[in-house]
Amino acid sequence: MARSSHTRFLPLFLFLSVISPTTTTAMITVAARGFLLEATPLVVAMQDYYTASNGTFISDLPDLWQNRNVDLDAGAEVHVLHDAPGHADLRIVTTVAEVYYRIVANNASGTIHGPADLKGKRIGVVANTTSEYFAYRYLRDVAGLKDDEYTLVGASGGQGLCYSLPCGNGTLPKMLALGQIDALTAYEPTTELAAMTIGEKNAVMFRNDSLYRELSVMYTTQAKLDDPVTRKEIVRFLKALGKVQETFATEPTKVWDRVASITNRGMSVQLLERIWGLTRWSGGLPADMVDLLAEEDEYIARDKTLKRTAMTRERIASHIDSGPLAEVANKLDEGVNLRGLR
Ligand SMILES: *[C@@H]1O[C@H](CO)[C@@H](O)[C@H](O)[C@H]1NC(C)=O
Ligand SMILES: *[C@@H]1O[C@H](CO)[C@@H](O)[C@H](O)[C@H]1NC(C)=O
Ligand SMILES: *[C@@H]1O[C@H](CO)[C@@H](O)[C@H](O)[C@H]1NC(C)=O
Ligand SMILES: *[C@@H]1O[C@H](CO)[C@@H](O)[C@H](O)[C@H]1NC(C)=O
Ligand SMILES: *[C@@H]1O[C@H](CO)[C@@H](O)[C@H](O)[C@H]1NC(C)=O
Repeated sequence: MARSSHTRFLPLFLFLSVISPTTTTAMITVAARGFLLEATPLVVAMQDYYTASNGTFISDLPDLWQNRNVDLDAGAEVHVLHDAPGHADLRIVTTVAEVYYRIVANNASGTIHGPADLKGKRIGVVANTTSEYFAYRYLRDVAGLKDDEYTLVGASGGQGLCYSLPCGNGTLPKMLALGQIDALTAYEPTTELAAMTIGEKNAVMFRNDSLYRELSVMYTTQAKLDDPVTRKEIVRFLKALGKVQETFATEPTKVWDRVASITNRGMSVQLLERIWGLTRWSGGLPADMVDLLAEEDEYIARDKTLKRTAMTRERIASHIDSGPLAEVANKLDEGVNLRGLR
């Protein structure tokens, strides 16, 4: 073996460190908020196609830069918009789900006839999330209201959410029933349970699917993608996720029990069935992703405390990498040795 020069030795050493022994102990760590419906296919992919020895699911807020072990984060696009300005290396690699929001208004007074009647109303939202953004977009674009013609009442974090009846004190549905707010929009099943709490005859639902939907995305860093071992695992995980998304989309009855148990908030299968149609498990990178992110970033950048302007379309596009998904498509026939995958 030639060791006559340093320059020949070094590349060989790097080569060995890449192919051995890491390839035999492939690992991946995925982080998402486990109680959200959108996180459930990730958990299923992890449980069915990995084992505890090589796959880890962290149920927490996205945390790519604080926890370097995390290879893939999953969360609503709003997290990406908050993280991207300070992290040029962030890369979105796929969509986990597309989620449609609804505003439910309490029409017990009989005065809500159409969207314009939301004028002057107090609207409950999950503060600073896609829920708040949907309320803003609907009230602006469909109801035709200016910011000062309604009041957003923000419930923070998990506080306002409800997963089963009866919805307790402090949840948005209970606030709606008590008249502390007039309408609300939140992650499901909270909106659905709000309608059930005030009674179907009082509940008016406002919805516009072409206006906006949340994109729950998976993202990583350029450094992770540049590492051949990590990149290979990311591609394998995306392949497994694709299989799970297909099942979620085409055979939902097979997964409802499991989804209910993964979210672990006491959600019934009957409730899941009622709200299932609000989430699409199509995956991939939607053609309008840059448009959606660019428009939403205008809203986020309005927050003066962030001291920044909205990102350009070019900057946003630089955060989307279709390479790993293309590799999944190219490797359909290659054995990747994952249990259950063909
Ligand atoms: C995880 O480990 C199991 C057994 O330990 C193995 O069969 C499987 O192929 C591994 N998966 C990955 C993605 O490395
Ligand atoms: C709200 O209630 C009034 C009175 O019952 C009814 O006329 C109206 O149609 C209701 N609004 C909607 C959007 O159903
Ligand atoms: C969102 O956060 C900002 C501060 O970052 C705050 O001013 C605003 O009131 C919050 N929105 C809601 C609906 O609570
Ligand atoms: C909810 O609030 C009501 C009224 O303030 C109170 O009587 C009741 O005990 C509270 N319930 C719980 C479970 O805290
Ligand atoms: C839904 O939103 C789209 C996009 O803003 C708009 O063109 C359309 O008129 C809206 N539809 C309804 C029923 O409000």
